[in-house]
Amino acid sequence: MKIGALKESVEKENRVALVPDSVERLTKAGHEVLIEKGAGTAAGFPDYAYSDAGAKASSAKEIAASADIFVHVQAPTSEQIDNLKKGCVVVGTMNARTNPKLVASLASSESTALSMELVPRIARAQRMDVLSSQASIAGYKATLLAANSIGKYLPMMMTAAGTIPPAKVLVLGAGVAGLQAIATARRLGAIVEAYDVRAAAGEQVESLGATFIQPPSAEDAEGAGGYAREQTQQEQATQREFLTDHIAEADAVITTAAIPGRAAPLLMTEEMVKAMRPGSVVIDLAAESGGNVAGTVAGEIVLKNGVAINGPINVPSSMPFHASQLYSRNIMALLDLIIDSKELTLNLNFEDEVIDTICVAHEGKVRHGLGE
Ligand code: NAI
Repeated sequence: MKIGALKESVEKENRVALVPDSVERLTKAGHEVLIEKGAGTAAGFPDYAYSDAGAKASSAKEIAASADIFVHVQAPTSEQIDNLKKGCVVVGTMNARTNPKLVASLASSESTALSMELVPRIARAQRMDVLSSQASIAGYKATLLAANSIGKYLPMMMTAAGTIPPAKVLVLGAGVAGLQAIATARRLGAIVEAYDVRAAAGEQVESLGATFIQPPSAEDAEGAGGYAREQTQQEQATQREFLTDHIAEADAVITTAAIPGRAAPLLMTEEMVKAMRPGSVVIDLAAESGGNVAGTVAGEIVLKNGVAINGPINVPSSMPFHASQLYSRNIMALLDLIIDSKELTLNLNFEDEVIDTICVAHEGKVRHGLGE
């Protein structure tokens, strides 16, 4: 089959959907791989690495018009969609639930669209789970951003000039990103506390050498699919009151709390930020979905009473080499599922839960009621 990847068109997107290792696997299996010139450069994969792996360098137009499967990190542009070959498969992180226009236009182009963020959280699909692979990078990077910002050592230091105590890091939301932030802060020697509304997170937090904190009477808020449910007003009030002292003690707070399909919950009010010492930092990884912190501005660092509130966007793109490598492996796992390896033909089995769930447009129609 012809499989194509382009240079991503979203501004400041440094990742690439296929890395040379994956290209080599595909060409060895008998596929033809078309790569736009410069597609991997920003991620650290030069053009020659792709040609060594057997890819053919092509123009974006050529790829769109001839590829049977078209892979992206983010969503294709409307111009790319207009140029697609009828009946091709388009794969990307399209945020289909909040992008009905895009889904509708993919359906009108008569392509089959597979939206990677919808991969169900089941054991069999873990290899395709782009949310996990990229969130893990974001969590790691969040700790580095915090460490770079606080003007303090993270580890305890015993020096001839005296002993420096370790920094205190508080992580709010201990899912995939939060756990990686905790692990990184622990490796750097910080004292780490973490909070989550799901009781199951407690064991994972403690296995990383951090302390799990929750209000004494907190109810487990695990909802469908292992995700958190939204908190009631009362629960939110109790949560904020309980967290205020912990936040005031922290040198760095990293927030990662999210509820699928909803705006991020507000965990830190202006008052709670005010309670922090000047020179402390807050890294709000939920900035793109509204933020967990009052005062967060997506893509900016805002100073409030000497406390830096950093709301980075597209954090995985700031570590594009490994982010692309992991994303590309996620894509390869999906290709294994949708390609018949003997016949080298497309095998879209809608009885398969993964394919059924992630397919948002097929044969001219939007699926799962996601289009406009
Ligand atoms: P997420 O990005 O939706 O949320 C991040 C974290 O924020 C979660 O741990 C959530 O419980 C927490 N949170 C939500 N509201 C909060 C609040 N008000 N206060 C504090 N924390 C709050 O979730 P993520 O990281 O994508 O994964 C969540 C769950 O999915 C976990 O149980 C994880 O183990 C599970 N998972 C399962 C996978 C699989 O089986 N294939 C793969 C990846 C994750």
